[in-house]
Amino acid sequence: MMRIIRTKDYEDMSKKAANIIAAQIVLKPDSVLGLATGSTPIGTYKNLVEGYRNGDLDFSQVKSVNLDEYRGLPRENDQSYYYFMHDHLFRHVNINLENTHLPDGTEADSEKACMEYEAIIEAVGGQDLQLLGLGHNGHIGFNEPCEEFEKLTHCVNLTQSTIEANKRFFASADDVPKQAYTMGIGTIMKAKKILVVVSGADKAQIVKDAFFGPVTPQVPASILQMHPDVTVVADEAALSKVE
Ligand code: GLP
Repeated sequence: MMRIIRTKDYEDMSKKAANIIAAQIVLKPDSVLGLATGSTPIGTYKNLVEGYRNGDLDFSQVKSVNLDEYRGLPRENDQSYYYFMHDHLFRHVNINLENTHLPDGTEADSEKACMEYEAIIEAVGGQDLQLLGLGHNGHIGFNEPCEEFEKLTHCVNLTQSTIEANKRFFASADDVPKQAYTMGIGTIMKAKKILVVVSGADKAQIVKDAFFGPVTPQVPASILQMHPDVTVVADEAALSKVE
């Protein structure tokens, strides 16, 4: 089942998404959270940090598994997703860092990196709640449009459009890593609940295609229509092509 929650703007989207994650932590303090990067969830993390500072949220038993990581970027590179998660969430809350996991971008053996990551996700018991952003081409994690849904954590060659979209964070397009390790569609779909955050008019077309169009690996996020418990929190601009 897919619920769509319409919000006024980015701030409102961020608050509502954070409230849903907060409720998950309150209901199950040792929840396994599947976490996401990109610019969209930054406000959500900000609100979660605020919740912790107010004394409303306790992360001491929370475990986390992130969707993806660039291959070949050292952790201390400020564009690694390891760095991002520490910067936006982990170092501001009382999460036990031993309970936080990302694919190991520094592992050159991609088969090993991916197998180990699947094993970690299984060992923690799978995601209770998986947070997702939405790429302009419909990618989730780094599952790019393709002929067939990839099931498990795998190494991907980033598409030119994703490299273009992400180059704003790097000195130049040449500095954007060309590959990443990402949870597969199967890994994402196994989450008990899924929460998608989307904001902005530039996402309006892909919101329409992904959530109201046919289910196809050419629009990876469209598979979410088949998940039993998905909540999309989107602002008015992102929903402007729907209805
Ligand atoms: C990146 C990430 C995705 C993210 C997407 C959209 O490629 N790997 O997980 O959802 O970008 O990013 P943004 O939220 O900045 O539009």
